[in-house]
Amino acid sequence: MSSNKKLIVGNWKMNPVTLDEAKKIASKIKRISPTLTSTETVICPPLPFIISCGSRKEVKHFHLGSQSASVEMVRGPHTGEVSAEMLHDIGVEYVIIGHSEQRARGESDVNVAKKIKAVIDAGLSPIVCVGELVRDEAGAYLEVLKNQIKHSLADVPLASVKSIVLAYEPIWAIGAPEPMKNEDIHESSIFVKKVFSDIFGVEAGLKVRVLYGGSVNYRNAPDIISYGKVDGLLVGRESVNSPGFVELLKAVDNIAYK
Ligand code: 13P
Repeated sequence: MSSNKKLIVGNWKMNPVTLDEAKKIASKIKRISPTLTSTETVICPPLPFIISCGSRKEVKHFHLGSQSASVEMVRGPHTGEVSAEMLHDIGVEYVIIGHSEQRARGESDVNVAKKIKAVIDAGLSPIVCVGELVRDEAGAYLEVLKNQIKHSLADVPLASVKSIVLAYEPIWAIGAPEPMKNEDIHESSIFVKKVFSDIFGVEAGLKVRVLYGGSVNYRNAPDIISYGKVDGLLVGRESVNSPGFVELLKAVDNIAYK
């Protein structure tokens, strides 16, 4: 584990439908967060709900994240765009970048790299998602992962690497009945750290936090942390099911440090 705290990120995706529901989910997470001792939680609601779900450092161990940010850094004529600076101003600390659902709609590594730069420049932490579409016996997926990491992080100066969080999300395990096997999660997270070390050096590689995402719920989360040996989790469906997410946070927080 690279940090002394586990990082649990809730990616709400395009859920829930109403502001009222969003506020209810957020308030349940904010109630449990201060009781956690070794876990930091980040919720990433849809953009229109973020500001109503919390504010910067409102309660201990609770942080706000966004599911997107513009590549544009300077204010101006960019209809429909939301800048990292604006997100920073409302208390957002993390931004999910390069999620496979956005890559599937055309987000390229080049665009991912630009967004990472914009987010870092605004003082936020990018949660950079990488993951293979299929896991083949011959290991071609390793090359896919390596290229995604290298190209996505192409513009990051060494001085900024400490703000980066990597999220390994094998695409075939997202929205699936089961997550990836724990031993495979462990193997992939080592590979992801190795590629990161090759780019930024061993010290940075040892420190970078690698999360796992893909069909995580409150039942499987503790084993994924313990046996998958990841620094945290990127949670989809279970993050908008507040009783489940609260149980997940409690269960993960109870895991003793290695
Ligand atoms: P699920 O947890 O619903 O599989 O989603 C994972 C994910 O894509 C998180 O970013």
